[in-house]
Amino acid sequence: MAAAEKIEPSVSSDHHWLPFTPNRDFHAEPKMFSRAEGVYYYTPDGRQVLDACSGLFTTPIGHGRKEIAEAVYKQLLELDFVSSFQRSHPKAFEAAERVANLTPEGLDKIFFCNSGSEAVDTAMKIAMAYHRARGQGSRSMFVSRERAYHGVGFGGVALSGLVNNRRTFGPGLPNAIHMRHTHLKENLFAMGEPEHGADLAEDLLRAINLHGAENIAACIVEPIAGSTGVLVPPKGYLKRLREICTQHGVLLVFDEVITGFGRTGKAFAAQSFGVKPDMMTMAKAITNGVQPMSAVAVDNSIYKTIVEDSPNPKAANEFFHGYTWSAHPAACAAAIATIDIYEKERLFERANQMSAYFLEGLISLKDIPIVTDIRGYGMAGGIDVAPTQIPGERGHMFQKKLYDNGLHLKTTGDCGILAPPFTMTTDHIDQMVDICRKTLTAM
Ligand SMILES: Cc1ncc(COP(=O)(O)O)c(C=O)c1O
Repeated sequence: MAAAEKIEPSVSSDHHWLPFTPNRDFHAEPKMFSRAEGVYYYTPDGRQVLDACSGLFTTPIGHGRKEIAEAVYKQLLELDFVSSFQRSHPKAFEAAERVANLTPEGLDKIFFCNSGSEAVDTAMKIAMAYHRARGQGSRSMFVSRERAYHGVGFGGVALSGLVNNRRTFGPGLPNAIHMRHTHLKENLFAMGEPEHGADLAEDLLRAINLHGAENIAACIVEPIAGSTGVLVPPKGYLKRLREICTQHGVLLVFDEVITGFGRTGKAFAAQSFGVKPDMMTMAKAITNGVQPMSAVAVDNSIYKTIVEDSPNPKAANEFFHGYTWSAHPAACAAAIATIDIYEKERLFERANQMSAYFLEGLISLKDIPIVTDIRGYGMAGGIDVAPTQIPGERGHMFQKKLYDNGLHLKTTGDCGILAPPFTMTTDHIDQMVDICRKTLTAM
């Protein structure tokens, strides 16, 4: 483009390649937001759209919180960047401490990254480094699950249980094996933890029996599989995974990128389900979505093995890994301001209190003919719609029509995923359910 040529940016501009989006369809029918406040987005023509997905599971406090914006602004004026390698800054330590105050006891070491995908890859590397450091370097396989989503790095692609992740890019890293998913016919329309399916945890034991525990580094699962439709773990399932991992020296990693920071009514799903993993990944709501940031919370014993007990000279890195923007000052400032709000406004308790009303509203949509399943836990829920002959087509239409009708959510395939801000009132939830009903009934 000639330098002098001034083009007003618009959707008709050809330059922005949207991620995870049917670009041709988007350009034909753009779905844009230009402003947000509280639980509402606003379209460029000023229409109000209720945010039923906290952005992308990122913004449970709601939009436009001045305290977070001001903390970021102030931080950028004071210290805008510091090398994350061999240098640091006070807010990095403060943010790590604030996060560690929320994690289950013992998961006290916080490694910062910038996205959920990076956190997952980092957790995989920590698992491998840990086993090597303790003389069990043959442990290089990972067990995850069908219908899992662990991001888009090659590690995450390998762990994810999604065919579309692999159709284009192949299997990602070798040595990932998958347990069956837990979405069972017997549990259709079950809200909360379903009754059936705890025995599916035995798939981990089958993997161990087939490959040998001495070859398996970690079992990585989302406590609730979020992106593929809010698949809530059957009663007892996560506890059984914990038992098997402990028995066989396999690390248990919870990917809490969606479930972290109150979505399940406690700080983390690990606490809601009473199961302590060895590592947890988190992102999104760590800064209320305001700055890119993610983290891995690591058990002290793993850190000790890799770092404190390292036989290498003190001048050598104990863990050869990190990102330029790990613990970026602005992200740390945003995380601290966000956690301040979570605590002052007791928002995790609020999520817990609002959950019953939200889940009742969701399940009230059960009678709509095209709805084939509804599930939910805490402040997250999934609504499956009957597919057309083209899988995902109806889900896509659902999300587009909702936008036109004033509601924002995420769809994956033929599932609509709701994860409202914890600051929603019962009136907002009623509005959300009404728009869903109107839209689904008309489809
Ligand atoms: C459980 C889980 N892990 C990892 C990711 C990847 O996060 P990101 O898109 O920030 O890389 C996601 C994204 O939704 C996720 O839900």
